[in-house]
Amino acid sequence: MSSHFEKAQTYIPGGVNSPVRSMKILDMEPVFIQKGSGPRFYDTGGKEYIDYMGSWGPLILGHSHPQVVEALQEAVKDGLSFGTPTQKETTLARMVIEAVPGVEMVRMVNSGTEAVMSTLRLARGYTGRDKILKFVGCYHGHFDALLIKAGSGVATLGLPNSPGVTEGTAKDTLTSPFNSLKAVEDIFDQFGEQIAAVILEPVPGNVGVIPPLPGYLEGLRRIASDNGSLLIFDEVMTGFRLSYGGAQERFQVTPDLTCLGKVLGGGMPVAAFGGRREIMEMLAPQGPVYQAGTLAGNPLAMTAGIETLNVLQEPGTYRELEETSQRLEKGLQEAAQEAGVEVQVNRVGSMFSVFFNSARVTDLETIHQSNKEQFKEFYRSLLEDGIYLSPSPFEASFVSLAHGKEEIDHTIQASRRAFARAAGIG
Ligand SMILES: Cc1ncc(COP(=O)(O)O)c(C=O)c1O
Repeated sequence: MSSHFEKAQTYIPGGVNSPVRSMKILDMEPVFIQKGSGPRFYDTGGKEYIDYMGSWGPLILGHSHPQVVEALQEAVKDGLSFGTPTQKETTLARMVIEAVPGVEMVRMVNSGTEAVMSTLRLARGYTGRDKILKFVGCYHGHFDALLIKAGSGVATLGLPNSPGVTEGTAKDTLTSPFNSLKAVEDIFDQFGEQIAAVILEPVPGNVGVIPPLPGYLEGLRRIASDNGSLLIFDEVMTGFRLSYGGAQERFQVTPDLTCLGKVLGGGMPVAAFGGRREIMEMLAPQGPVYQAGTLAGNPLAMTAGIETLNVLQEPGTYRELEETSQRLEKGLQEAAQEAGVEVQVNRVGSMFSVFFNSARVTDLETIHQSNKEQFKEFYRSLLEDGIYLSPSPFEASFVSLAHGKEEIDHTIQASRRAFARAAGIG
């Protein structure tokens, strides 16, 4: 065991501040990273990696983008936090509203978890209803109401799946499989008038990437509207990633409320929630739904967000991301074929996952039929060759604007060896 990890475990539960960082699911130890630059980061021993995790999504510009770093260095000189309104908050709020179709007003918070938690309170306050419908495999942060799984026998009735989540909390969370409109219709037949909101990742990424089937998002929009429920897109991962206006712009479906995070802060702790004006105006101090934050909208976080969005607005950025990601997808598919191993490379824009599965992967059930041992071997081989994907068979990896031809070619080359090793244990 590395001495860094041993020491960390003495002081921090499991040695990490967020469980999936531990690499436990891969039977490996975490790599301790020291610094990053562009598409690469470097561990404490100086080993270099091409990074496709991008801090779990925020780093769409790569590490330490000079424009963002410079702006932060300037901002630090003026102070870290004031606890008063600042002009930068208005600037970033305006930029978000101009970018995201469903957002007419927005409030900043510090984490995606907080954004979703606040959005649900607002949805319940606005509709006067208690129940929330979520989808199996969608992750919305670690707060109680959404840490729910549903056993197949009681598919629609929430059961807590973490100790500490009470049954009382769980009973208002309904769950449905992703990509089945029929399942959602059945739930609405039973509970329709009690459902405050339907919440989903429009492209789930937290169990690996699952593209929504054609018509699925439109169908959810229609069902929610027909029943007086709100549609919430949790775009913490997809916002400013799948297009400048997020998944809702890419798929042309507009939700009532939207959660944002990750790319919005470009690596600083920033998240936000926003939506239709009449709903957002229910928030305190304008309305009765309480929500607050000591460091919400702090000037350093706002600076990183503003500069990240400024770079993303330059012409051609999303086309470039798409082309680079397409090249990587094609290369991985060809390499897998050469090695004689069956994989599904699920990709939407610059989010992708590799599943060792001969069948199409469309929901959590099909994801779980993937071969995890082959993924482990594949991952181990890539890591040895200096390629760092998100360390789990159930996560998305990300291409950034810093990834160029050299990195993609190198990755495809390394993947030939990795797929061959995976094929060997098939
Ligand atoms: C879609 C989605 N929602 C919410 C969250 C929670 O965000 P945070 O980790 O910033 O609390 C995440 C984090 O991965 C996410 O991907």
